[in-house]
Amino acid sequence: CATVTYNFEVAWVYANPDGLQTRPVIGINGQWPIPTIRVTKGDQLVVNVKNSLGNETTSLHFHGLYLNGSNHMDGPDQVTQCAIQPGSSMTYNFTIDQPGTYWYHSHVRGQYPDGLRGPLIVDDPDDPHKDLYDEEIVITFSDWYHGMMNDLLAGFISIANPSGAEPVPQSALVNDTQNLTVKIQPGKTYKFRMVNMGAFAAQYVWFEDHTMRVVEVDGVYTKPAEASMIYMTAAQRWSVLVTAKNSTDRNFAFVGSMDKDLFDQVPEGLNPNVTGWLVYDEAKDKPAPRDVESFEPFDDFGLVPVDKEELYDHVDHTIQLDLKMDNLADGANYAFFNGITYVHPKVPTLYTVLSAGDNATNPVIYGSNTNQFVLAHNQVVEIILNNDDPGKHPFHLHGHAFQVVHRSEESAGFYNAETSASEVLPPTPMRRDTVLVHPNGNIVLRFRSDNPGVWLFHCHLEWHVASGLVATMIEAPLDLQKQLRGKVPPDHLQNCKAANIATE
Ligand code: C2O
Repeated sequence: CATVTYNFEVAWVYANPDGLQTRPVIGINGQWPIPTIRVTKGDQLVVNVKNSLGNETTSLHFHGLYLNGSNHMDGPDQVTQCAIQPGSSMTYNFTIDQPGTYWYHSHVRGQYPDGLRGPLIVDDPDDPHKDLYDEEIVITFSDWYHGMMNDLLAGFISIANPSGAEPVPQSALVNDTQNLTVKIQPGKTYKFRMVNMGAFAAQYVWFEDHTMRVVEVDGVYTKPAEASMIYMTAAQRWSVLVTAKNSTDRNFAFVGSMDKDLFDQVPEGLNPNVTGWLVYDEAKDKPAPRDVESFEPFDDFGLVPVDKEELYDHVDHTIQLDLKMDNLADGANYAFFNGITYVHPKVPTLYTVLSAGDNATNPVIYGSNTNQFVLAHNQVVEIILNNDDPGKHPFHLHGHAFQVVHRSEESAGFYNAETSASEVLPPTPMRRDTVLVHPNGNIVLRFRSDNPGVWLFHCHLEWHVASGLVATMIEAPLDLQKQLRGKVPPDHLQNCKAANIATE
């Protein structure tokens, strides 16, 4: 195993990825798109971050990594660290024991759609599918805004927007461009590692006249499952195998198409699609994709993990979260779990755990607006999420892949444990770290609290993070103290000092 080090200076640069507007974006070492982080399972990853933005704080979150024993490296500001102040530095340093397709992004308020998001790939010498493909290719999908996030957020959460309509992106991108060509050799099988690193839009993805075989979702290997179209929410990753044709007669389009159902209003002239091409022969043209009449994506609920981890059939701790969007007295629209809209605590929650002694198991000490849940060690925890809102929401839990044990159709209303008692749950449920709940529907997730840490559970629509659709899991706090008391590095605490945040 190796130590892989990246030195990242984060600063504004200019870019025009859709050819429509040049705008400031957050680059790394003067470049945008930002680099892919690539390690091998078992490696130690060291990321030295210097914040040279000048006008904004920042942080990095490594989406999907469990960070067992390294909760202080998780990245969300005021949760596991103070934000990195302008002019300051911070080092993320941890070992990665899980293979798969991940991504990294800023985790300070609404910042990553300004460009600070990129793929993070953990190669696996023991990949169970390695005999099924010849080569692999990383492909990112993203929505793209011409406006800057701070301006868009100010308009989104304001009295001028009482309905809470989310800003609609101007474009979709693939690998941060609209002109991606992928060289294909006849007869070969490719593993496409696909990441949706957008802020808001889910994307329908398909390869014209080629079938996909799904082999991984969110870092969890699956038994190969055929799909002609997938639906990839913001923050999800899907690896699919695509076998090339045997001839070089023509080239083929592949498409990411933003789900317009998410948009309150579809602006005139919006092109929801981004096209790339499988290029068999560079001398031949790149055909425009055919129109699609109806979107019928593959249902991920039936995926079976290769490791066949069994359903946790006994639940120790149930958490019910009822989701609602509503207006507060200021006239703006916010998002609520059980009537509470998340507000950052004054001190990062992790640091409160570490300084609280035996009190750390008392949820009251974490404030009244953090939707906090204290979990005992090694319990089976069930989250029942009822979506009392006509919108779709992709939910993400830090530090875990959860079992998706139930997902209702649209408009099913609240989960009813009694009428569902006779339901047969999947014996080896799909596991992932980001899952969609349908409009006015519900989902039931289970995980084992075997990873001491403060882990957020939130909607991964970046607008809804800002409007408060966030809960805090305080998992095994006394064990967390044993792991990390006195071990948070000085460069982390220095950023709190610089911001006048007391940590003891
Ligand atoms: Cu991609 Cu809080 O995470």
